[in-house]
Amino acid sequence: MVGSKTLGQAVFWLCCASAWASPQYVGGTACKTCHPNITVDFYRNPHYQSVASGKEKPEDTGCEGCHGPASDHVTAKGDKTKIGAYSAMTPKKVLDSCLRCHAESLGRASIRRSSHSQAQIACNSCHSIHKARSAKYLLASTEQRNLCYGCHGNVRAQFALPSKHRVNEGFMTCSDCHNPHGATAPGTGMGGRPRMMQTALGNEEPCMKCHTDKRGPFTFEHAAGRVDGCSACHVPHGTANAKMLKRPAVFTTCLECHNGLGDFGRQGDGVKLTPSSHNMSDPRFRNCTTCHVRIHGSNSDQRFLR
Ligand code: HEC
Ligand code: HEC
Ligand code: HEC
Ligand code: HEC
Ligand code: HEC
Ligand code: HEC
Ligand code: HEC
Ligand code: HEC
Ligand code: HEC
Ligand code: HEC
Repeated sequence: MVGSKTLGQAVFWLCCASAWASPQYVGGTACKTCHPNITVDFYRNPHYQSVASGKEKPEDTGCEGCHGPASDHVTAKGDKTKIGAYSAMTPKKVLDSCLRCHAESLGRASIRRSSHSQAQIACNSCHSIHKARSAKYLLASTEQRNLCYGCHGNVRAQFALPSKHRVNEGFMTCSDCHNPHGATAPGTGMGGRPRMMQTALGNEEPCMKCHTDKRGPFTFEHAAGRVDGCSACHVPHGTANAKMLKRPAVFTTCLECHNGLGDFGRQGDGVKLTPSSHNMSDPRFRNCTTCHVRIHGSNSDQRFLR
């Protein structure tokens, strides 16, 4: 039951107080006088589309689409506390503000659960709306890799090792393998994939996008990659070892699992020993892949010999 007095108050607060007390949308032209450079540059911003179309509601267009209604800010001749000022927002507030429009395309759940969001890295750590340096995507650096290296300095060194993917040379980008907005395993409704791995074709590792011959399915699959995927044997950023292998020689990579210890950690027991027919003191046997040529999987031989 709502008394008539309460109802009257409610109606007052709804229709009158809000109109009288809260700031209104004034449109972008009002900003030009005091923020001339930002306003002029804005014509080239992809966010100008909403202004150009002229079809959006005031809260979804132009400066106020991000900074919120600005009448109080204008009346006060530029009071910073009376406008949506990103310099004063917590990372979570920034996320909320941008996701109002971008949640659908980026995936609301995966971006909120991403390692970046969890670590308080928000949109404006990587994107710059008014001082973008890149030709596309409003990035805060001219090159994507430099943006990432700004915080992941150790990774820069990995891509400078002798056996590596050519990211520093500009043939690939970090986002060929990672999704900086976080990635969710499709169809599982689960949280983020580890290391924010980008997915190719459904739930695959991103590697298959380019190394299609490793995709399979093979009649005889090498179960080595079942848990860690390609990273069971390769270091995808780069290493000092040939073919980006984890270990300096092929056989040391193999013996990590086929070692006769009957236990190689997470894959569990049951890995076949390197057979006794293989004389490890004979150098011929050390280069395992001269015989096990289909090391990633074979359609004709259980032991990957052809
Ligand atoms: C009468 C001049 C004036 C007008 C008109 C004006 N501003 Fe401002 N604005 C200022 C001044 C001055 C500041 C700096 C205040 C400070 O640093 O304390 C400011 C600060 C801001 C900030 C805060 C920046 C930050 O993060 O520190 C934003 C956002 C902003 N204005 C947006 C707008 C928008 C959008 C409009 C148009 C709807 C607008 N302003 C119109 C004078 C104006
Ligand atoms: C897509 C969201 C978005 C739109 C649209 C937008 N801004 Fe901003 N604005 C930001 C963000 C984020 C910042 C914080 C600095 C940055 O990341 O570039 C900012 C910063 C500012 C600042 C502080 C000064 C500075 O350079 O840091 C002012 C003033 C401002 N904006 C005014 C405007 C005006 C005027 C418009 C319309 C012409 C506008 N903004 C449109 C997101 C937006
Ligand atoms: C860790 C850095 C980083 C963070 C944080 C980040 N982005 Fe991005 N974003 C990028 C990079 C890099 C690209 C370009 C990807 C490419 O080249 O394929 C991009 C692309 C985009 C694109 C255009 C392409 C697309 O996928 O639709 C949009 C829109 C976008 N980001 C919005 C956002 C929003 C909104 C947030 C915050 C909720 C955010 N980004 C947070 C790095 C980041
Ligand atoms: C009012 C809705 C709205 C808000 C709020 C908004 N955007 Fe956008 N954004 C758009 C539209 C519309 C486009 C252009 C169409 C497109 O590419 O999807 C766009 C495009 C982008 C792009 C892609 C540029 C390109 O080159 O493809 C990035 C990056 C981006 N926004 C980041 C942000 C960030 C960061 C924020 C928060 C500071 C933000 N947006 C807030 C509507 C919005
Ligand atoms: C503003 C700093 C910053 C920028 C820029 C940045 N990152 Fe991050 N990144 C972090 C932080 C902080 C974490 C979480 C802590 C950690 O694991 O290092 C993280 C985590 C990650 C992770 C997950 C690591 C894990 O163990 O789960 C990946 C992958 C990653 N970032 C890739 C990128 C890529 C690709 C870019 C460029 C598009 C980028 N980052 C840009 C700060 C940043
Ligand atoms: C060829 C695919 C690929 C490319 C390109 C790539 N990564 Fe990775 N990255 C991976 C994989 C796979 C892992 C997980 C490795 C593991 O867990 O053993 C990883 C792990 C990471 C991690 C977490 C572990 C660590 O070393 O700190 C970060 C951070 C990271 N990558 C950042 C980047 C950045 C920044 C770039 C671009 C300069 C980049 N990656 C390019 C595939 C790639
Ligand atoms: C965007 C395409 C692309 C993606 C994604 C990609 N690679 Fe590559 N990869 C290449 C190219 C191109 C080469 C050839 C070497 C070069 O760039 O000089 C290569 C080479 C390699 C090599 C052989 C290096 C040598 O010395 O012959 C290995 C091993 C490798 N990639 C593993 C991976 C793994 C593991 C992943 C996923 C984590 C992956 N790649 C993702 C494009 C890709
Ligand atoms: C059991 C360990 C192991 C796993 C798991 C593994 N690789 Fe390899 N990979 C190797 C070995 C060993 C070589 C070197 C073969 C040689 O000496 O000719 C190699 C070579 C390569 C090469 C370069 C030569 C070629 O065949 O094109 C690429 C590319 C490659 N691997 C990609 C991948 C991808 C992508 C995955 C995940 C689907 C993967 N590898 C998983 C062991 C592995
Ligand atoms: C990450 C652990 C791991 C690594 C590293 C690894 N393997 Fe395996 N390998 C397995 C598992 C698990 C199986 C399936 C169980 C089994 O048959 O022993 C397997 C199966 C095999 C088989 C088939 C055995 C059969 O008769 O069915 C051969 C041959 C083989 N591996 C050779 C190699 C060679 C050569 C290398 C090095 C290039 C290597 N493996 C690296 C885990 C690994
Ligand atoms: C000269 C060729 C050759 C080389 C080099 C070689 N293998 Fe083999 N491997 C074979 C043949 C042939 C078989 C199947 C017959 C047998 O069991 O001896 C086999 C079988 C295997 C099996 C399956 C054993 C089983 O019980 O089914 C494993 C595991 C294996 N090799 C691992 C390795 C590893 C690890 C290396 C490198 C240290 C290696 N092989 C090097 C030829 C080779």
